Amino acid sequence: MASDFKASGAVKLGRLTGLIGAAALGVCLLGGAAVAEPGDSHIKIVTPPDKSVLEGPLAAVTVRLPTDRPDEIQIFLNRRRVRLPKRQYRQYMACFDGVELASGKNEIRVVALKGGKPVDESTSTVFLHSELSSDGARAPEGFSGYTFHEQTHERVCLPCHQLDFSKTAESETRAENSPCYQCHKKMLTTYANVHGPAAVGGCLGCHDRGAKPKLSVPKPEGKLCNSCHENSWPSMPFGHGPTAAGSCAICHDPHASNQPYFLRKSAADLCAGCHEEILAKPHVIVGFSNNAHPVRKWPDPYHPGKEFTCVSCHNPHAGLTPAFLQNYDGISPISNFCITCHAMR
Ligand code: HEC
Ligand code: HEC
Ligand code: HEC
Ligand code: HEC
Ligand code: HEC
Ligand code: HEC
Ligand code: HEC
Ligand code: HEC
Repeated sequence: MASDFKASGAVKLGRLTGLIGAAALGVCLLGGAAVAEPGDSHIKIVTPPDKSVLEGPLAAVTVRLPTDRPDEIQIFLNRRRVRLPKRQYRQYMACFDGVELASGKNEIRVVALKGGKPVDESTSTVFLHSELSSDGARAPEGFSGYTFHEQTHERVCLPCHQLDFSKTAESETRAENSPCYQCHKKMLTTYANVHGPAAVGGCLGCHDRGAKPKLSVPKPEGKLCNSCHENSWPSMPFGHGPTAAGSCAICHDPHASNQPYFLRKSAADLCAGCHEEILAKPHVIVGFSNNAHPVRKWPDPYHPGKEFTCVSCHNPHAGLTPAFLQNYDGISPISNFCITCHAMR
């Protein structure tokens, strides 16, 4: 298939597209009518492939179109229709950025329509991995990890997209100038809070071009994070499991999130993903009525404006005591810890 592409004049046109915006790319290709097409009478999802395991919530859905082009395409994620911009489908490939998956299993169904009637469809069932939820922790039998950025997969896109980043600048000042933007822009436009270096297109500052797999971030990522975020945690006597291991991205999305601090879940739900047992039994105190200390749903007396959660009492990163209690030295009586809140009310 790739050799067909190489033989066509469209390859050269495609190569020009490095930093050209999406619209210009479209025009350039429509002009170059000589794109050699893989002839097929059926629609087929190319990415993400069936039974693949993905690590990020936003999937790029790319679809090879039948030679008899549909005049409309609909995408259904878990049977709900995804909103798509109105488009004409003249090329053999249709690309959609940022279909937002839920953790665990997801069904992506792409339907081709002609004259308003469905004529063909293709389905891909994928698994979004997440350490923070029981449905996302383990992929079902038959599913396997998927790395898009390797030669065999990228080859299919090369007639129209630039994927050689060896000569591009490592850092940009505008996200639009990043060579990643054309395919990953929804990562920066979907969520309310975007992490500084991602927001300015500094993708290649964290994603190593020379790495294997291509563009991966060396694990654990903590060293990288700490290169910009000076903090005193490593010198504290007690480090919290995942933080001490440098697995910051388990809790923080490195790119963007609707939560403050780019958390993958609200502070109230984040911890329970790994410490379910805390919610199952009384915590901190057992009064005579067997009432536990509340762990959520109150205003936090110590941090005005914030919800009372696990991190009102525990530092999520490290501390001076084995349970990383906030603002407590571990030497004075524990009541000194309690009164940080209770004396104030
Ligand atoms: C601050 C460092 C950093 C920056 C800047 C950054 N990334 Fe990432 N990225 C990571 C890390 C760390 C992971 C691995 C996350 C994990 O372990 O789940 C990752 C994972 C990804 C993934 C796969 C999983 C996911 O979360 O979707 C994609 C795609 C990605 N990055 C694209 C980008 C693009 C595009 C940019 C620029 C707009 C960018 N990254 C900027 C650190 C970064
Ligand atoms: C026949 C040419 C062609 C091929 C082959 C092709 N693309 Fe595209 N792609 C385009 C054009 C043109 C655009 C931008 C215009 C548009 O919105 O359709 C685009 C846009 C995209 C976008 C952004 C879509 C959006 O919603 O903003 C993604 C993601 C993408 N391509 C991924 C891929 C991947 C991955 C492959 C290979 C599996 C691929 N493309 C192969 C032509 C192509
Ligand atoms: C031609 C479109 C395209 C371009 C350009 C592109 N990506 Fe991707 N990338 C994808 C697709 C498709 C996936 C598979 C995941 C998905 O469905 O979104 C992916 C996945 C990733 C992943 C997860 C690991 C993997 O290989 O599957 C990382 C990390 C990533 N991209 C980083 C980047 C960075 C950094 C850039 C810019 C230097 C970039 N990408 C440019 C299409 C693209
Ligand atoms: C290239 C430097 C750089 C790297 C690497 C980096 N960050 Fe950041 N980070 C920043 C900047 C600048 C800000 C402040 C702007 C903002 O809020 O996005 C920030 C803000 C944050 C914040 C919000 C802090 C606050 O007080 O609101 C968190 C959380 C964060 N980063 C986590 C991480 C994690 C986790 C990693 C590793 C995956 C990481 N950062 C890697 C530069 C970096
Ligand atoms: C177990 C989950 C978890 C892990 C792992 C984690 N964090 Fe955090 N982080 C949080 C939470 C929760 C907050 C918000 C705390 C709050 O609301 O007071 C936070 C806040 C932050 C902040 C902003 C406030 C501050 O304390 O400076 C930065 C920066 C940050 N984390 C960076 C990191 C880095 C770097 C790593 C890896 C070395 C990391 N985090 C690992 C949960 C985590
Ligand atoms: C990715 C899984 C994960 C997440 C998410 C997580 N933890 Fe942990 N936590 C651990 C591990 C692993 C340990 C250390 C081993 C153990 O307790 O057996 C630990 C230990 C602790 C301890 C010390 C336990 C002791 O025995 O002294 C506290 C307190 C704690 N976590 C609180 C939190 C809080 C608060 C959050 C949310 C901000 C959180 N954890 C989120 C995995 C996690
Ligand atoms: C009112 C403050 C407070 C809140 C809120 C709180 N904790 Fe704790 N937590 C404590 C104290 C005090 C200890 C006991 C510390 C010690 O013995 O050194 C503790 C101990 C722990 C431990 C280790 C011992 C054990 O019981 O397993 C874990 C894990 C833990 N907390 C997790 C959580 C999680 C998860 C949440 C949120 C669901 C939470 N805590 C909410 C104060 C709190
Ligand atoms: C970060 C703030 C904070 C810390 C620290 C804290 N508490 Fe609380 N406590 C609260 C909040 C919020 C409530 C719920 C509102 C209320 O009852 O006024 C509460 C409620 C209570 C209650 C009433 C429980 C009920 O169900 O009636 C007791 C008793 C209590 N705390 C004891 C303690 C003890 C003992 C400590 C120290 C080990 C402690 N608290 C540390 C914030 C805190």
